[in-house]
Amino acid sequence: MKIAVSGKGGVGKTLIAGTLARLFASDKYNVLAIDNDSAMNLSYTLGIDPEVKKNIIPISEMKELVKERTEVKGGGPGIYNINPRVADIPDKYKVSGPDGLELLVLGGIEEPATGCLCPENALIRTLLHNLFVKRDEVIIVDFEAGLEHLGRGTAKGIDVMLVITEPSQKSLDLSKKIIELSKKLGIINIYLVANKIIDESQLEIIDGRIDEWDVPLYHSVPYDTEIGKADLNGEPPLEYNPESAALKSIKTLYGKLKKLKEEVFDL
Ligand SMILES: Nc1ncnc2c1ncn2[C@@H]1O[C@H](COP(=O)(O)OP(=O)(O)OP(=O)(O)O)[C@@H](O)[C@H]1O
Ligand SMILES: [Mg+2]
Repeated sequence: MKIAVSGKGGVGKTLIAGTLARLFASDKYNVLAIDNDSAMNLSYTLGIDPEVKKNIIPISEMKELVKERTEVKGGGPGIYNINPRVADIPDKYKVSGPDGLELLVLGGIEEPATGCLCPENALIRTLLHNLFVKRDEVIIVDFEAGLEHLGRGTAKGIDVMLVITEPSQKSLDLSKKIIELSKKLGIINIYLVANKIIDESQLEIIDGRIDEWDVPLYHSVPYDTEIGKADLNGEPPLEYNPESAALKSIKTLYGKLKKLKEEVFDL
């Protein structure tokens, strides 16, 4: 099963993606977690050894690799290969974490005001396509805020798009955009997950907003001060306090996804 996690900045994508990856791994699934964010935070939530983390270079920042794979001999400036060879990259650059899970840091693509970082983009896009279509692990991608770099081809292999939202209009507005784009990209299973929920009235407001979106409010995770404490302590929330309210709720979300995997995607 290939799960993509998206949403506005700061809504809890990394918390949810990383914790889901840990839970799948602790159930003995082969898991490859993908960090597609320039801030590279997923390794904390996963609990990657700091010594290992220290040596990680995001693929998008590997200048030599990007050049080697996208260069067109005799092509000149602005000419690059949009379908580079990538199949060997995940196994070569992934690192290991707790419960046998693995992490590949793609990095984000921040397009400079002066123009597009096209070769980097081409490499990351092709890699995402390869990960979604060719790999047989449980793949969980922590996406950077926007999904602009996703094309139809890339998104085709995504089985489940989790759109994370906070109880705020800004976050709901962006969720709507992400859902519309995901539909255009041909993704079938698009689920909204509300995070940082303090009371029922917030869920009622969200429910009212999404009425015509044609996407279910799949799950909601409460606001939980233990998450911030885990962060300050530099510990994965799942290790810091696995019984906290938010963690219990993410375990329930995991249960739903595992059931979906067994009943739909493993057939
Ligand atoms: N349910 C929750 N209760 C309390 N705090 C939370 C909860 N979920 C996330 N947070 C806090 O909100 C902040 C953002 O969470 P996280 O990094 O997971 O979001 P993100 O969407 O990945 O952000 P970014 O867009 O910056 O990558 C963190 O400080 C995290 O500790
Ligand atoms: Mg994040």
